[in-house]
Amino acid sequence: MSESADCGGFVPLLEALERLKDCDVRLGGGWGVDVLAGRVSRSHHDVDLFVPRDGMVAAASRFIDRGFDAVLEEPPDRMVLQSRGGQRVDLNGLVYRADGHAVQVDHEGDLEIFPAWGWVQRAVAGQRVVCLSAEAQRLKHRGYPPRRTDETDLAAIAHINEPPRFDPAVRPMEAGEEDLVAGIETASDRLLRPFGMWPLPPSHPEAIAAERARTVAVLVAGRPSIGFSRLELVDGHAHIGQLSVLSEYGRLGIGASLVEASCQWASRHGNRLITLTTFVEVPFNAPWYRRIGFRELPDALDFELAEVVAQEADLAAFGARVVMARTLG
Ligand SMILES: CC(C)(COP(=O)(O)OP(=O)(O)OC[C@H]1O[C@@H](n2cnc3c(N)ncnc32)[C@H](O)[C@@H]1OP(=O)(O)O)[C@@H](O)C(=O)NCCC(=O)NCCS
Repeated sequence: MSESADCGGFVPLLEALERLKDCDVRLGGGWGVDVLAGRVSRSHHDVDLFVPRDGMVAAASRFIDRGFDAVLEEPPDRMVLQSRGGQRVDLNGLVYRADGHAVQVDHEGDLEIFPAWGWVQRAVAGQRVVCLSAEAQRLKHRGYPPRRTDETDLAAIAHINEPPRFDPAVRPMEAGEEDLVAGIETASDRLLRPFGMWPLPPSHPEAIAAERARTVAVLVAGRPSIGFSRLELVDGHAHIGQLSVLSEYGRLGIGASLVEASCQWASRHGNRLITLTTFVEVPFNAPWYRRIGFRELPDALDFELAEVVAQEADLAAFGARVVMARTLG
């Protein structure tokens, strides 16, 4: 499937792509939006390109050899190159996984997922370009306050109605997904940043070992997974040890689906109660759990639950914590 676009305004993009001829290069950002829209909708500060992480240095050298300077050097994850004339190229290194999706981890540990379903092919002046789909672009514009350029980008692709390919269905985690799930937990903890609760302290090794020993199931949403719920067994009942959803997929009801699926899993396995610990003040913690059927537990806790609270004592330094429970039908 391809649609052509006017060559004139696309010259800076075509020049950048020409330098990476024969590379596996993919396009995102504002130029990616314009390729989808088939027109140049605004002026662009840079060309956002994705290359395989192990090809990043070679890709950057194709620009440096032509007189570009590196203005940001974080190889092999990211390099920003600028020509004397001010043309900028933002190279991002992706790690492709066996199932076709890719991940990028920035120097602060933030994780971005690029699902295999999120790329489409288009043509610009007869040249094939692999770029983010309109659905993937819309998701990448979520999770932060929009700037004017974001609004322009979303307006430029508003008319594109592709059948949705993102399916947030909840399923059990499969072998090989453990590191992705760990990355989702670290990245989504950043949602706590505006509430002064970031970076959270790393868990003690004993707490991690105890958590592993208690874990009975991990449910994930999406393929690749973009959120998860870790179910533990505490005092003989189910306990949600962690619930995380990546910010660009936030507020789509995926957290609620994971909680419901966790409650159903717990019911099916004979539990009459499901518990969790959380922050009192954060809107997507205790206030949200209250709205979806959880109630605060009194201070007198059973032995293992009290131990979980003690293991999370470092978190209490960031804000009041509470233990909550939902009765299962
Ligand atoms: C908690 C979390 C899993 C929710 O995931 P989600 O997919 O956004 O959840 P939902 O879309 O089902 O609903 C979240 C609700 O929380 C509230 N909420 C979420 N983000 C919010 C924000 N930034 N400000 C105010 N309220 C917010 C809203 O009430 C929202 O429902 P609404 O959009 O219908 O109003 C996700 O925010 C996250 O990973 N947070 C970081 C880790 C964490 O705090 N985990 C839970 C503690 S155990």
